Amino acid sequence: MNIYVDSKMSDDSRRMEVYRGAIFVHLPSQGALKLCHLAQELVEEAFSPLHPLTAHEKLSAEKCAEILSVVKPKFIHHPRSKQYIQEMLKELGCNLEKTYFDVPRLRTAFPGDYLKSGIAYAFHPHRDTWYSAPFCQINWWMPIYDLRCENCMALHPRYWNQPVKNGSSGYNYHRWNAESRYSAAQHVKTDIRIQPRPEESIELEPEVRMVCPVGGAYQFSAAHLHSTVPNTSSVTRYSIDFRTVQLDDVLNRIGALNIDSACTGTTMGDYLRGTDLCQLPKEAMALYLDGSESVYALSTP
Ligand SMILES: [Fe+2]
Repeated sequence: MNIYVDSKMSDDSRRMEVYRGAIFVHLPSQGALKLCHLAQELVEEAFSPLHPLTAHEKLSAEKCAEILSVVKPKFIHHPRSKQYIQEMLKELGCNLEKTYFDVPRLRTAFPGDYLKSGIAYAFHPHRDTWYSAPFCQINWWMPIYDLRCENCMALHPRYWNQPVKNGSSGYNYHRWNAESRYSAAQHVKTDIRIQPRPEESIELEPEVRMVCPVGGAYQFSAAHLHSTVPNTSSVTRYSIDFRTVQLDDVLNRIGALNIDSACTGTTMGDYLRGTDLCQLPKEAMALYLDGSESVYALSTP
């Protein structure tokens, strides 16, 4: 598995490398820094007068979930968050005419056993492709505050080409949107929503924990097995992630190999063009439809 740091490779070559399992680590860019600062501003305002990194020491998990259920959507739908992603992608060499992104998520990982479900879901090992992501999807992940190896996320590279028995055959993205997504804030102690999980024991080691500075980002294939690292630090981790697909790859069905995903539905309705926020052309989206979208409405961001 190749890890490229601050690579100046073209986006066309970079994507092909990502589809072969490579990770790209980017140094801070202006657009990415603006996105992180916007997230800092929103979470600091939401937790004020407490500091977001240590607010869990004073707040009940219920109160914390309530705060997150307001600030997370606020960040996701903030007009400046899309604008800064556009800036960031342009700075990092993506052709905005052909690059489509979904709205950024604000994630949290609290220390110890504090708030692990629902709105602050601690992700078990998974591939996004178990969750109806296309094989050309590229994940972008960035910390909002200084990151430590005790509270980041991890990739599990041995599973890049090793199938995992999993529950993806029971997952449909359109059904998830219709039934489960919006109830996240109610799941404070446990999360009973059905999500695709490994159905065999997973060897988490060797794992790759990437620690980049604020404004830095890493890019990896949606087909990589990855998870939230159990937070053994004393501070909460706040991070941003979003996903991209590139039109040529969507149309030509280029991407990582499918070795074990059996979900139905598609997230293709979520991506917005880098220039004008239009959805993918109908003919591109049609290649990924399997009929389940007519049972549940095709999602919109
Ligand atoms: Fe993921």
